[in-house]
Amino acid sequence: MRIAVVGTGYVGLVTGTCFAEVGIDVTCIDIDEKKIENLKKGILPIYEPGLDEMVARNAQKERLSFSTDLAGSIQGCGCEAAFIAVGTPPGEDGSADLKYVLGVAREIGRNMTDYMVVVTKSTVPVGTAQKVRQAIEEELEIRGVDIPFDVASNPEFLKEGAAIEDFLKPDRIVVGVASEKAEKVMKKLYKPFLMNGHPLIFMDIPSAEMTKYAANAMLATKISFMNDIANLCEIMGADVNMVRKGIGSDVRIGNKFIYPGIGYGGSCFPKDVKALIRTASENGYQMRVLQSVEEVNENQKSVLYNKIHSHFQGNLSGKTFAIWGLSFKPKTDDMREAPSLVIIRKLLEQGAKVRAYDPVAMEEARHILGDTIEYGKDEYEALIDADALLLVTEWPEFRSPNFAVVSKLMKDKVVFDGRNIYDGVDLSEKGFSYYGIGVKKQTQQTEATVKL
Ligand code: UDX
Repeated sequence: MRIAVVGTGYVGLVTGTCFAEVGIDVTCIDIDEKKIENLKKGILPIYEPGLDEMVARNAQKERLSFSTDLAGSIQGCGCEAAFIAVGTPPGEDGSADLKYVLGVAREIGRNMTDYMVVVTKSTVPVGTAQKVRQAIEEELEIRGVDIPFDVASNPEFLKEGAAIEDFLKPDRIVVGVASEKAEKVMKKLYKPFLMNGHPLIFMDIPSAEMTKYAANAMLATKISFMNDIANLCEIMGADVNMVRKGIGSDVRIGNKFIYPGIGYGGSCFPKDVKALIRTASENGYQMRVLQSVEEVNENQKSVLYNKIHSHFQGNLSGKTFAIWGLSFKPKTDDMREAPSLVIIRKLLEQGAKVRAYDPVAMEEARHILGDTIEYGKDEYEALIDADALLLVTEWPEFRSPNFAVVSKLMKDKVVFDGRNIYDGVDLSEKGFSYYGIGVKKQTQQTEATVKL
């Protein structure tokens, strides 16, 4: 089988490489010449564990190739499917901008020579596949040719940092089709990925498009709900870590995605929640739950800063804050909508100094923050003479630091744990003041005062 994947961003590159991995001939296409030039040399535009070796292996076996020539890659290519995986940046009003998706559809229409299934892989609003179909039809009409084709919608559910695993062993694959022929092609393509018995679910195209938004909106809702509960736990003197365990063991609720923190970030949740609210309102419906999900999330990004502000009684000027973790979540260098940015900007506004360390996202952060903050060589260097440590991203290497060393390096022993990865009681016994999310503040001082 042969396919084309247009767009070598996160989704396109993982999709193309994983299809090549199971023996399909894949051409990945992008208009960005530099990106393609780099990919040919094995230099990837993103960080994703394991992806570089997989790209190299498949390129070497000549199952995976890269090109900037969309027209040439489509004409007479013998592709059974062409995946559109280009960006859908949010427009000013929050709706997904489809100019790249439809531009690619037109170019495919201008150049296709045989039947193929044109698959939308980018996250696109309900109705987009229909627009893709129209764009291709118009181009075929201009050419005066009658080449049969189908459109399909095949949303991705990849998590950054675990994308290869998610693609190779998916929980489910959702495909929206409108013909048996397209269903047959998609079945053949995905057969190698169904070994773990999880389903390939076929449905109509609008339902497939909606499934992606509904999945992300539901997950974002779980997070904002737990963040709201965490904030209330603090007020009421409850411990959200306990409440989480208590509710998570109910199988109807489940124990995943109920970790409170400093708000969700990344390329998907914020964008998709906004887009769904927008689509609904354009169609005369108000997504009340999602509006609150978004509001709670914006608020949550400031929660850690508010604790810092109150601990230091507003005197942040000249203080140094060590930050562990910058990316929106571990195992990625992605800084899009990262809560770290909100916290850092607030600290800088108050005249504080920030020294951050992240295992992979510092280069990406430097593009955004430049030299407004310092960057540590490692997590310990970031701590030197710091007035407080802020744990912002729960990278595995931050989980069990040597607190004796931490304590020696810092000026003041205060930890603000934005992801609840440390044990507050344990830290207070080690002489730290500890602030988590949705848990009681722990300080040795308080205990001493109580004893007096
Ligand atoms: C998400 C979806 O999981 C994926 O299916 C979709 O295709 C794209 O969007 P991703 O953005 O890579 O993937 O990250 P994910 O691991 O889902 O985390 C999203 C955000 O939620 C992160 O900021 C994370 O810190 C936060 N989160 C997650 C929580 O705050 N609490 C949780 O319990 C889980």
